[in-house]
Amino acid sequence: MKKTVARTPTGIPGLDEILGGGFPQGRVVLVLGEPGAGKTILSTQYLANGIAKFGENGLFVSMEEGKGHYWREMSAFGWELEGAEKTGKFNFVDASPIRTIPGEVRIGKLTIGRQDFSLISLLEVIRSSAKAIDAQRIVVDPISLLLYQYPDESQRRKALLDLVEALAETGATCLLSSELHRVGLKGRIVQIEEYLVHGVILMQTIAAGRTMERIIQVEKMRETQIDRQPRPYRITEKGIEVYPRESVI
Ligand SMILES: Nc1ncnc2c1ncn2[C@@H]1O[C@H](COP(=O)(O)OP(=O)(O)O)[C@@H](O)[C@H]1O
Ligand SMILES: [Mg+2]
Repeated sequence: MKKTVARTPTGIPGLDEILGGGFPQGRVVLVLGEPGAGKTILSTQYLANGIAKFGENGLFVSMEEGKGHYWREMSAFGWELEGAEKTGKFNFVDASPIRTIPGEVRIGKLTIGRQDFSLISLLEVIRSSAKAIDAQRIVVDPISLLLYQYPDESQRRKALLDLVEALAETGATCLLSSELHRVGLKGRIVQIEEYLVHGVILMQTIAAGRTMERIIQVEKMRETQIDRQPRPYRITEKGIEVYPRESVI
């Protein structure tokens, strides 16, 4: 018999269906999409469902926006995250100041460069915040700004590897989001972050006749039988909804 891998369901309507049941447990999955595609909504919904439906605590590491802004945007969907934070089931880490760290930082007798410091402190804060609430789900949203700090590709790769490894070590099932560098279904350049993760989900907007349609596609997912067809999705007042039996092309 084939070994079956434990799944972590997202609880997002239609998404688990194209994922063959959910994310492979304990793995690191990348969500790639243009700005406005719904990456922050999808990853927050993943955490909110974890808490409300599956008894799994969630950590949200925000690289871009502060907490006030995040609460305001997510309050539209009715997820009870503020209550969950009070009961220790949800944790929000504002890692956005990492962008404004000066060129060099002194820690004791040691002076280290900005890039190293920001990565080391990021990994440290992820480890401790995940541990504090025993998080089984972790989101880092988005990693684009972190990557831009490394113009050199080998350094960028190393930083990403360190991040993916640190996340994998927590044992949680993790989502990273990143900006997609082009539009349309053809001529896509594979981005470096895609090589280093266990799964990749694409969120895009394409022209369908006279309207624009949002499509989601599981591009790769280790240990999983996936549906690789692009499927339409919508963002409603309840969050993301995927239509796994509708085709777009
Ligand atoms: N309450 C809402 N109802 C429906 N759609 C919404 C709502 N709030 C935001 N959106 C849509 O969600 C998108 C933003 O989602 P977000 O997760 O922030 O995107 P990303 O993180 O990929 O940049 C916007 O394009 C907007 O159209
Ligand atoms: Mg976002």
